[in-house]
Amino acid sequence: MRKEVVLITGANGEIGHGLISHFAENEKTHILALDVMPLDDDLRSKCERFIQGDILDQMLLGRLVAEYEIRTIYHLASILSTKAEYNPETAHRVNVEGTLNLLRLAVEQATWQGKPVKFLYPSSIAVYGLPDIATKNASGKIKEEIWCQPTTMYGCNKLYCEQLGRYYTKYYRQLAADKNPIGIDFRAIRFPGLISAVTTPTGGTSDYCPEMLHHAAMGKEYRCFVRPDTQLPFMVMPDAIKALLELEKADQSNLSNLVYNVTSFNPSAQEFYDIVIKAFPNADITFEPDIARQGIVDTWPADVDDSAATTDWGWRPDFDQERAFNEYLLPAVKERYL
Ligand code: SER
Repeated sequence: MRKEVVLITGANGEIGHGLISHFAENEKTHILALDVMPLDDDLRSKCERFIQGDILDQMLLGRLVAEYEIRTIYHLASILSTKAEYNPETAHRVNVEGTLNLLRLAVEQATWQGKPVKFLYPSSIAVYGLPDIATKNASGKIKEEIWCQPTTMYGCNKLYCEQLGRYYTKYYRQLAADKNPIGIDFRAIRFPGLISAVTTPTGGTSDYCPEMLHHAAMGKEYRCFVRPDTQLPFMVMPDAIKALLELEKADQSNLSNLVYNVTSFNPSAQEFYDIVIKAFPNADITFEPDIARQGIVDTWPADVDDSAATTDWGWRPDFDQERAFNEYLLPAVKERYL
């Protein structure tokens, strides 16, 4: 008998950390964790098995199919937006070909099991591409179907993989004579910038908020790479984990979309600074905008409309801006670093 597991790729990333901790604390889920980097020791014991390997390694993925019954996949592995710009073709391989490999694995598993495999996919506000700052400032909350003209390789990859998910869910092998109706159940969330109290992101462009907070708490200087007036939607990690889990559990018949915006609060970098400096009055933070990275952030929306998620699966963040700082971020980073 093959063991029933939930597969988490990119397990050692920020969302992976939150997701594995949640499963270990709240549910008796057997986790099969995969990452190119070693998994942090405290997470290893929480997993049924950790495999250090690459999602581009088809032999490895093939062996997983043979060994495990994978009911749900959280495909978190990805190269984020800033890092992707330094080697766009490599990012494309990891973000697109890697996702294609996982979609194929999901279809194969579904065929074995005789029922669709759930495929949870973190997409991003990077799929949006507003043409200029005036349009960004005038656009308010952006709905899922507009301004999908990304300017980054990462944004292009995420947008295309959403489409691949739709294809594998609805149209896979649509001309085959032996057309198998069992496919995958793809569900994606377009995350805003994420802020965790216990980890820091690597290679993103919304990183200025979490970096500012963690540097201030560690007593390290921070040069913020965007202008003070820069505005993006954000969310704390516990709400990101909650969103993934709630979308996974949602009744398929209530889902009118395959892709949903979610958000919580959207401070300007100046507002974020004001909160951080109040909590850490000696923090050494200055604004030194990097024109290129600023250019990317300026194409991302100042806010997103997440009403479809609210209507279809009851989405509501637990943490608004005040709760996020006062009940989660500030107490946790103070305890961590002081
Ligand atoms: N946080 C991501 C990034 O900055 C966006 O999804 O790349």
